[in-house]
Amino acid sequence: MRLLSFLIICQCAIKSLSSHSASNPNVILLMADDLGIGDLGCYGNRTLRTPNIDRLAKEGVTLTQHIAASPLCTPSRAAFLTGRYPIRSGMAAYSRVGVFLFSASSGGLPSEEITFSKLLKQRGYSTALIGKWHLGMNCESSNDFCHHPLSHGFDYFYGLTMTNLRDCKLGQGSVFLKGTEKSIVTSIQIIGITLLSLATVHFIGFLKVPFQALGYCLLITAILLVVLLFFFYNFRYLNCFLMRNHQIIQQPLSYENLTQRLTKEAVQFIGRNTDAPFLLVLSYLHVHTALYASKNFIGKSKHGLYGDAVEEMDWSVGRILDVLEKSNLNNKTLVYFTSDQGAHVEEISSSGEVHGGYNGIYKGGKSMNWEGGIRVPGLLLWPGVIQAGTYIDEPTSNMDIFPTVIKLAGAQLPCDRIIDGHDLMPLLQGKIIQSKHEFLFHYCNAYLNAVRWHPRNRDTWWLQAASYNKVTLNMKNVYSLQKTITLHTHNGISVGLGIICWNV
Ligand SMILES: *[C@@H]1O[C@H](CO)[C@@H](O)[C@H](O)[C@H]1NC(C)=O
Ligand SMILES: *[C@@H]1O[C@H](CO)[C@@H](O)[C@H](O)[C@H]1NC(C)=O
Ligand SMILES: *[C@@H]1O[C@H](CO)[C@@H](O)[C@H](O)[C@H]1NC(C)=O
Repeated sequence: MRLLSFLIICQCAIKSLSSHSASNPNVILLMADDLGIGDLGCYGNRTLRTPNIDRLAKEGVTLTQHIAASPLCTPSRAAFLTGRYPIRSGMAAYSRVGVFLFSASSGGLPSEEITFSKLLKQRGYSTALIGKWHLGMNCESSNDFCHHPLSHGFDYFYGLTMTNLRDCKLGQGSVFLKGTEKSIVTSIQIIGITLLSLATVHFIGFLKVPFQALGYCLLITAILLVVLLFFFYNFRYLNCFLMRNHQIIQQPLSYENLTQRLTKEAVQFIGRNTDAPFLLVLSYLHVHTALYASKNFIGKSKHGLYGDAVEEMDWSVGRILDVLEKSNLNNKTLVYFTSDQGAHVEEISSSGEVHGGYNGIYKGGKSMNWEGGIRVPGLLLWPGVIQAGTYIDEPTSNMDIFPTVIKLAGAQLPCDRIIDGHDLMPLLQGKIIQSKHEFLFHYCNAYLNAVRWHPRNRDTWWLQAASYNKVTLNMKNVYSLQKTITLHTHNGISVGLGIICWNV
């Protein structure tokens, strides 16, 4: 036993010794919410203007087969921060709703999980999370902050512990009330029919019905329904707030200049840390609904409010790159851009406008385990260290960021648990040409749907749909990949709220 643990420690030590040319770089991780791979100029969009994000591609590496660990926010972000499949940390649901919806929920990313922020902080990095968290807040009380970003290795937090939701913005409709109103009407109908039948039975004389007791039951039901409606109508006040560290600073959240505020916080954080290594995770609220954009961007894009939001986010990325350049930090900083999952293609506003993005040739989108739900942009920039204008078609995962930044910071990879991501640096620097991911597993919540297999030393990809007859088909390129997935899934999947991940 002792020998075994000695061997494990040795192996870990050897692994962390194979370091890269540059060490202790700053790390900036930019994450969009629900952005489609087909929304960006560098991935082929010709009408949305994303010059700053495109710059990352031109001056850095474009990953063309970059895969999110889940097509939903909470599990995908848990995987991103821990380098592990969400099911390993318990951040994958067995019920239909796969994300946190209420700030008062007691769930969240478990304290035992090791995030890259924890490890980088231990290595002396200044660490900040600006924007969306969506991995829980409290356990037992309203202020123990056990799941809060500050308990997961971030020194500084400015943003939302929850997610942006339509219910947070006046006039944007509700993700809850649509379904709830219907079920309330149905409940009333059922109660009515039941009462009528009982009354009939009573008057015929078949049965003595205790109408008084029944009256109390109905009263209690009515009170519960009213409380529920009150909660959803006041959701904005209860659930949508902006925090700085442990302090609530705006409740309800205001959307006015929100991206400017997030960007300003990020710029100030960089400014405070020009002399020491830092980790900045800038997790945009764009382009999840409720959509919003500031005065300079509203009505300016060719794709409605959705396009305005994408272009505003692109502006923000540009600001960050400018500041890096001005502070002479660009050669010392690894910048990564991605989206937590594919575009929410079915999202339509209350007025009927399309509020979801575009996943290019890939079928499906957020909350579905079709390629469009998980194939996300992956752009990496580090001038002088990784080759400009490179394309990498190998399968990579958003879980790869964990081991990549851990190694760059000179920290030890945890040895007591399985890390599913692989260090990206050898691939990015052209030291290896094949990704270390021989297999990638595709889960919908806690259910395995498919496996992507990239046989070693071969130029092929295979995709096996787990819930179908274990048929394996060869896929030579993305087009046939898309077709094959189509063959293997049901038609007409409906994901009403977009928070449901069906087990196909
Ligand atoms: C938002 O930004 C605009 C333009 O910079 C400015 O005129 C306005 O006062 C800002 N609003 C708030 C609430 O900061
Ligand atoms: C660009 O993105 C918009 C918004 O998602 C989409 O409607 C449009 O089809 C895309 N255009 C191209 C050429 O990909
Ligand atoms: C940064 O790297 C680029 C590319 O190697 C090089 O041309 C430039 O001179 C470097 N700048 C600094 C400030 O080191």
